[in-house]
Amino acid sequence: MKTANDIRSTFLNFFGTNGHQIVESSPLVPRNDPTLMFTNAGMVQFKNVFTGAEQRPYRRATTSQKCVRAGGKHNDLDNVGYTARHHTFFEMLGNFSFGDYFKDDAIAFAWNLITKEYGLPTDKLMVTVHSSDEDAAAIWRKVAGLPDEKIIRIPTDDNFWRMGETGPCGPCSEIFYDHGPHVAGGPPGSADADGDRFIEIWNLVFMQFEQTGPDTLIPLPKPSIDTGMGLERLAAVLQGKHDNYDIDLMRALIVASADASNTSPDGPHAVSHRVIADHLRSCSFLIADGVLPSNEGRGYVLRRIMRRAMRHAHMIGAREPLMHRLVPALVTQMGDAYPELTRARALIVETLKLEETRFKQTLERGLRLLEDEVARLPSDGALPGDVAFRLYDTFGFPLDLTQDVLRGQGRAVDEAGFKASMEEQRRKARESWAGSGEAATERLWYELKDELGATEFLGYDTEVAEGKVTALVKGDARADSAAAGEEVLVIVNQTPFYGESGGQVGDSGVIFTADGTEVTIRDTQKKLGAVWAHVGTVTKGTLKPGDVVELRVDVERRSAIRANHSATHLLHEALRRRLGEHVTQKGSLVAPERLRFDISQPIPLTPADIAAVEEEVNRRILLNSDVVTRLMSPDEAKGQGAMALFGEKYGDEVRVVSMGGRDAGANKEFSVELCGGTHVRRTGDIGVFKVVAEQAVAAGVRRIEALTGTGARTWFGGRDALLAEAATTLKVRPDEVPARVAALVEERRKLEKELSELRRQVAMGGGAGPAADGGAKEVAGVRFVSRIAEGLPAKDLKPMADELKKQVGTGVVALIAVNDGKASIVVGVTPDLTDRVSAVDLVRAGAEACGGKGGGGRPDMAQAGGPDGSLAAAAIEAIEKALAATVAA
Ligand code: SER
Repeated sequence: MKTANDIRSTFLNFFGTNGHQIVESSPLVPRNDPTLMFTNAGMVQFKNVFTGAEQRPYRRATTSQKCVRAGGKHNDLDNVGYTARHHTFFEMLGNFSFGDYFKDDAIAFAWNLITKEYGLPTDKLMVTVHSSDEDAAAIWRKVAGLPDEKIIRIPTDDNFWRMGETGPCGPCSEIFYDHGPHVAGGPPGSADADGDRFIEIWNLVFMQFEQTGPDTLIPLPKPSIDTGMGLERLAAVLQGKHDNYDIDLMRALIVASADASNTSPDGPHAVSHRVIADHLRSCSFLIADGVLPSNEGRGYVLRRIMRRAMRHAHMIGAREPLMHRLVPALVTQMGDAYPELTRARALIVETLKLEETRFKQTLERGLRLLEDEVARLPSDGALPGDVAFRLYDTFGFPLDLTQDVLRGQGRAVDEAGFKASMEEQRRKARESWAGSGEAATERLWYELKDELGATEFLGYDTEVAEGKVTALVKGDARADSAAAGEEVLVIVNQTPFYGESGGQVGDSGVIFTADGTEVTIRDTQKKLGAVWAHVGTVTKGTLKPGDVVELRVDVERRSAIRANHSATHLLHEALRRRLGEHVTQKGSLVAPERLRFDISQPIPLTPADIAAVEEEVNRRILLNSDVVTRLMSPDEAKGQGAMALFGEKYGDEVRVVSMGGRDAGANKEFSVELCGGTHVRRTGDIGVFKVVAEQAVAAGVRRIEALTGTGARTWFGGRDALLAEAATTLKVRPDEVPARVAALVEERRKLEKELSELRRQVAMGGGAGPAADGGAKEVAGVRFVSRIAEGLPAKDLKPMADELKKQVGTGVVALIAVNDGKASIVVGVTPDLTDRVSAVDLVRAGAEACGGKGGGGRPDMAQAGGPDGSLAAAAIEAIEKALAATVAA
C-alpha cells in the first residue's frame, strides 16, 4: 500500500522531474493577503506571481501546501467528524505554471500522473470542463482518449474558479473518481451529484484573468496554471478507502487518540476520535506557524478548534489532558514532510496542555449548566441566546462548541440572541469608558479599540505582510485620507511591526499600496495594549481607510533590535550569577544601536565583574542553541523559574522565552524570562557582546550599556583604528603601544621635574627674566624684590617667596608666574614688617592691575590671580606703588 507520505513524495517528484521547482508550503498565516484568515489553497502563496506583481526565479512550481479551512469564508469546522471528507486541516498537492505551459501540458501531466504513476484505472475516471471551454474538452479527448460522455460540460461557476472577491481566476476542469455503483450518487452535473459515488479528486484551473472588482475581469499578463488535489482524498482512492479518515495517516492519529484514552477507535466514540485527529492537525500546525490561542482573530479560531477537540476528549472520558499526548504520533506521521512541526514540538505540547488544563476547570461546570438549561426547554426548543452567552463569557464555551454539544440532540442555539447579549456587554463596556472623563485622545483610542478590535501582530514570524488600513488618525482625530507630506497614524488589521513595549522600541519601515502610495513609518506605538499605531509621514500618493497595503519592517534595524533584546536576557542572568540574586531589573531599553539595562546594585561593578559578565554572555552566544518561546500561565512560568518583573501585571497567558543552553545538572535553560519582545532564533545570531559603559543612575541602581553584532563590531573596529593611529604616531607596532606610552609618561614626569627645577633656578636669579633685576631695590626704605616668570608652575611661587624672604632678611617679595596668558601673584613680607605692611593688601593691588579681583592669605604671605598675564609688569609696578603708599602713611 502506498502511504500518504509516499503519495505526497510521488507527486512532488513527478513534477520535480518535469522541470518544476519543489517549493515549500507557505505558512498557514498568509503574508500576502490581509483578507484571508488562513492559507486555504496551494495558489495563495503565488497570488502575486500570477498577476505579475511578484517575480520568482522559476516559472514552474510544485507544492504540498498546508491548508486550514476554519473561521474564515471557508469554514468546515462544524462538519468535521460527521462527514467523510471535511477537514479543518488538509494538504493540497499542486503544480503551477506562471506563464509557462498552459492547458495542454497541464492536462497531460495530470493524466500521466494519476493513470501511470498512481495507476488509477482510466475507466474509473471522468472529468468536467466549463461549458465555454471546448478547448479543454478537445485536449481531454486527445490526451486521455475519454469518450464525450465522460467529459461533462458544466455551465455554472462550479467550473470557474475564483480565489475570492478579487484575485486571479479562470475556468477549471475537475477530475472525478467513481467509487462504484454500490455508493449512492450521480455524476457531476446530474441531480444527485451531491452523493458520494463520484468524488472530485483534482481541480485544474486555467488561470486567465484577474478579478479586480465585482464585475471586472482583466486578462492576466500570461495564461497560467494552478492545480489542487487534496492529499487525503487522493490517498483514500489509492488506498481503496471511501472515507478520508480511513487513510493510514488519519488512522494512525485516530488509533493514538483511542490508545491514549483507553477506548476503541471505532464504535461509539468514532466521531470524537475523528474530531480529535483532525483538530490535532490544525491546532499543531497553526501553533507551529506562530498562532497562539487568544480571544481575538486567528488566535480565537485556534482556541475554538482546540476547545471543540477538548470537549470530545472529555466525552470519551479522558480525565487528564489528552491532546498534547498525541503530538508524538503526529510528528511521526508528518514531521519529515514538515520540519516546522518537529521544531515547534515543545511549544505545541505545552500550548495544548495549558489550554486543556485550564479549559477542564470550566468545561464540566459549563456542561452541567447547559444540561440544566436544556432540561427546561421543550423537546425541540432552541437554547436561548443569553444562556449561550453566559457559557461563552463565564465558562469559555465558544458558540460553535455549544452548538456541537446540542447537535446530537437536534437542537439549535438562538444565535441572534447570543449576538444581542454580546452587543449588550460591549455597550456596557463602552459606557464605562465613555463616561470616565478620559481626555479626548484617550477616548479616541477606546473607540478605535471597540470598533476595530485588537490589531493582529504577525511580527514574531515575519517582517513583511499585507494588511488592510482600518483607520487613519491625524492629530487627535480620525481622518478619511492622508496625502503626501502629512503626518499620520496608520491602523491596520494585522501587522508585522512591533509596537513599543517591554523596553523594546517600536519598529520603523515603510507601508505602501500597489498603486504607489507610500508612508514612511518611523515608530510604532501600542495604544491601550491592543491597537497598533504606525507613526509616519505620507511620502507619495494618498492613503485611505480600506486600502490594502504591504507593510515592510526595516529588517536590518529589527535584526539589530532582536540581537540586543536576546543579549539583554543573557546579560540579566549573567549579572545575577556574578553579583548575586539581589540583582533585579530596574529598567531596560532595547534599541537597534545598543541596549541599556538598569539593575539594583549598590556598588559599582569592577572591571573584573564586567569582564566576567562579558565572558559569560559571549560563551552563551557561541553555544548557538535555539531560543525557545512557549506560552504558559504566569504561575506555571514562575514555577519553572522564569524571571518576571515584580509588581508587573501579566495576562492569563504569558510568553516565556528561554535561551543560553541547559548546563549539566540544571533543571532549566540558562535564561528563562517572561517576555513579549522579539528575539533571535539562535543565540549565535547575537554575534558578539560588549559592555561599553557602567555607571550609577540613582541610589542603588547601576546602568550598563552594551553593544552586540554589527554595533559591537563597529565599536571594536573604531578601537582598533585608534590603536593603529596611536601606533603610527609613536612609530611602534600596535602591541608595543602600552609599553611605549608607559615609557613616555615616565620620561615626561622626569622632564617636568627637571624643567620645573630649572625654571625655579632661573626665577631665583640664575637667568634673565624680564623683571629679574638680579637683586632688591629700595622702596621708601623697604627692600623690595620682584620677579616675573613665564611658565613657572603657580604652586612653586610660595616656596620661592619663602626662600627669597630668607635671602633678603627684611623686605617685601613680589612674584608673578604667567601660565596660559594668566597671572598668578604671590607677595611675601618678612615678619619684622608685618605690623606696617600687609601682603594681602599688596597682592590685591597687583591683582587689580592685571584685571583680577580679591586675593587672600595672611599678612606675611598672600596670593591672587589676574586674568591678563600680559599686564604682569604693570602689576609689579602697582605693588611697588602700594608698598610706597603704605610705608609713607
Ligand atoms: N486553486 C484551486 C483550488 O483551490 C486549485 O488549486 O481548488
